[in-house]
Amino acid sequence: REKQRLLVVANRLPVSATRKGESSWALELSAGGLVSALLGVRQFETRWIGWPGVNVQDDKGQKSLSSALEEKGFIPVFLDEETVDQYYNGYCNNVLWPLFHYIGLQQEDRLAATRSLQSQFSAYKRANRLFAEVVLSQYQDGDVVWCHDYHLMFLPKFLKEANSRMKLGWFLHTPFPSSEIYRTLPLRSELLKAVLTADLIGFHTYDYARHFVSACTRILGLEGTPEGVEDQGKLTRVAAALETDMVRSHIQKLRGRFAGRKVMLGVDRLDMIKGIPQKLLAFEKFLEESPEWQDKVLLVQIAVPTRTDVHEYQRLTSQVHEIVGRINGRFGTLGTVPIHHLDRSLEFHELCALYAITDVLLVTSLRDGMNLVSYEYVACQNTKKGVLILSEFAGAAQSLGAGAILINPWNISEVAASIEDALTMKEVERKERHRHNFMHVTTHTAQVWADTFVSELNDTIVEAELRT
Ligand code: UDP
Ligand code: G6P
Repeated sequence: REKQRLLVVANRLPVSATRKGESSWALELSAGGLVSALLGVRQFETRWIGWPGVNVQDDKGQKSLSSALEEKGFIPVFLDEETVDQYYNGYCNNVLWPLFHYIGLQQEDRLAATRSLQSQFSAYKRANRLFAEVVLSQYQDGDVVWCHDYHLMFLPKFLKEANSRMKLGWFLHTPFPSSEIYRTLPLRSELLKAVLTADLIGFHTYDYARHFVSACTRILGLEGTPEGVEDQGKLTRVAAALETDMVRSHIQKLRGRFAGRKVMLGVDRLDMIKGIPQKLLAFEKFLEESPEWQDKVLLVQIAVPTRTDVHEYQRLTSQVHEIVGRINGRFGTLGTVPIHHLDRSLEFHELCALYAITDVLLVTSLRDGMNLVSYEYVACQNTKKGVLILSEFAGAAQSLGAGAILINPWNISEVAASIEDALTMKEVERKERHRHNFMHVTTHTAQVWADTFVSELNDTIVEAELRT
């Protein structure tokens, strides 16, 4: 039987391009949970449609980049600089993203956002139209079209208008907020109505689905019960990688470098939602209260740069640097510092090795759709059986709650106490907790997630045809 053709449409392609010459391009793997999850989906014949992360206006550039991407099954949507600024930096990352994660903007930024709302919203629609055009140019009868995330809420509507028979799903990789928050969004109804044209809508957790349904009830006056995809975990290519020589030799190196100290780890895009300042303050409090640990523990924080043109993200970067500097100044010695902070992404094998040698992973998200990093950590810990400290505000808390130490990241004393508990936890308990998490993570893979979504989508269409 031929593989089902699947068109994945997401704002960002799995690789982002940088121009090296008139027709030459460097492609680098994009960071973020959406890309990681979808790269794990192998069972379909997949074409991926998205923005290559670079502004290319000339014909030669567009052609050469398209053909470099074509080899990997990626099809670019070219967006000009103005559109990227208004649609991506503006409406997506300065309006929808903070709102969906319950993050308040500073008053001045909020007012600025309100003032430019109309032009940002038109750019959002314009960008969604451009995505729709590229999808239509690739679409063949029988394809399943799977749209992703808050960038593309208008896409289902534009596609259905062009072809009402298209099998069309939409999945949100962020939280969907309570309707009390959602209703503050100007143009709230238009967005909801556009998403509702999809045949199947999916969310990471039951709560997000419930919030979405109540937004539809209260704002649009529709009746409904949640039928979204519940609690869909998604793992990860990482576990298998541990067996490769490259990762093994990295593990050896890291073990040597950190010998004699317990390693705590944070891996986050440098984003407000990740609660990085809160994490650092909790670690500081722990060091303050437990001087005996001061030269025996190290926090490695990988902070992957992201959305660097948005003001809030720039402000966060300096804030984090300031706190790290202060804590290292306060608790460092000539030989060591307590926080090892990196403003960059890691190679895949480096990250896997780091997960494997870590004693405690610290996830302090203030809100997080799922948090794949916590899944990846569990997948890499079958030997060590380290401890996961996990924010109750991450979607993953719904699925890994039994094995993790759950915390409220706003309560710094509680987090500091959890760090102590995690570092001193007995092996029997660590094994038991790990067993819970590992079982969940290995059964809720990216494959299962995509299979479930696509077959539900197929079923939905069959049911609809039977009803008419
Ligand atoms: N990641 C990456 N490069 C890095 C660090 C992390 O590609 O240097 C990946 C990581 O493996 C994970 C993803 O980025 O799959 C982060 O996903 P998560 O769901 O935790 O958060 P998001 O970034 O989507 O908010
Ligand atoms: C989150 C979003 C993704 C996004 C990723 C990285 O995971 O849900 O849609 O791709 O962050 O952000 P970026 O803006 O660099 O694509």
